[in-house]
Amino acid sequence: MSGLVVAMDGPSGSGKSSASRGVARALGLRYLDTGAMYRAITWWMLQRGVDLSDQAAIASRAGEPALDSGTDPDAPTIHVDGVDVAAPIRSQEVTAAVSLVAAVPEVRVRLVALQREIIGSGDIVVEGRDIGTVVAPGATLKVYLTASAEARASRRTAELNGTAEPNGTTVEAQQAAMARRDTLDSTRKTDPLSMADGAVELDTTALNLEEVIAEVLRLITERRSSA
Ligand code: DC
Repeated sequence: MSGLVVAMDGPSGSGKSSASRGVARALGLRYLDTGAMYRAITWWMLQRGVDLSDQAAIASRAGEPALDSGTDPDAPTIHVDGVDVAAPIRSQEVTAAVSLVAAVPEVRVRLVALQREIIGSGDIVVEGRDIGTVVAPGATLKVYLTASAEARASRRTAELNGTAEPNGTTVEAQQAAMARRDTLDSTRKTDPLSMADGAVELDTTALNLEEVIAEVLRLITERRSSA
């Protein structure tokens, strides 16, 4: 891994996606959304009618779908078996099911290998839950983004209601749904969400997007000059 690798981990609603894309754009780097890969494999399992309460069923089919992730921060893409799934992977159905699929070790082993292949020689910003701990522990910079539960839920609610198909969700409903997902993601046996050794914690509760991007860019400059 010779080029720059920036690992951006944290729970949902911590502002990872917008910040990661902004940092990648500012520095002309590639961008990889690993959550989209877990969502895409979940979408595929739902399409095939795989019983998601059955870990063995998920495991036995984890190798089947062909995933393709485009890494342009201005237009990230995700295809499964050639189908563009950028929109359906954001559905409530996929969002509610993805933690079950992401907890299965066979799924993680496969996606971690694909992610390392894409990272290759670097020059990339990678966002997820286990980037600094598992996927790229040698990353140039590891950032762990956090925000208060209220801030995370209200950002997610604004995001969902700001789409072409607002779903009328409330901050309270989102906060409860996020708490469920966070518990599943942080307590699973394989690669749970946790802060990596050497990661810098960045609380984004009181920061706007530009401030988060500026802070990450500052940290990158600091790392590079001390390397
Ligand atoms: O970031 P997101 O909400 O799109 O992630 C979707 C799910 O995938 C989330 O429940 C956690 C899981 N995930 C993971 O386990 N490991 C990653 N590197 C990225 C996401």
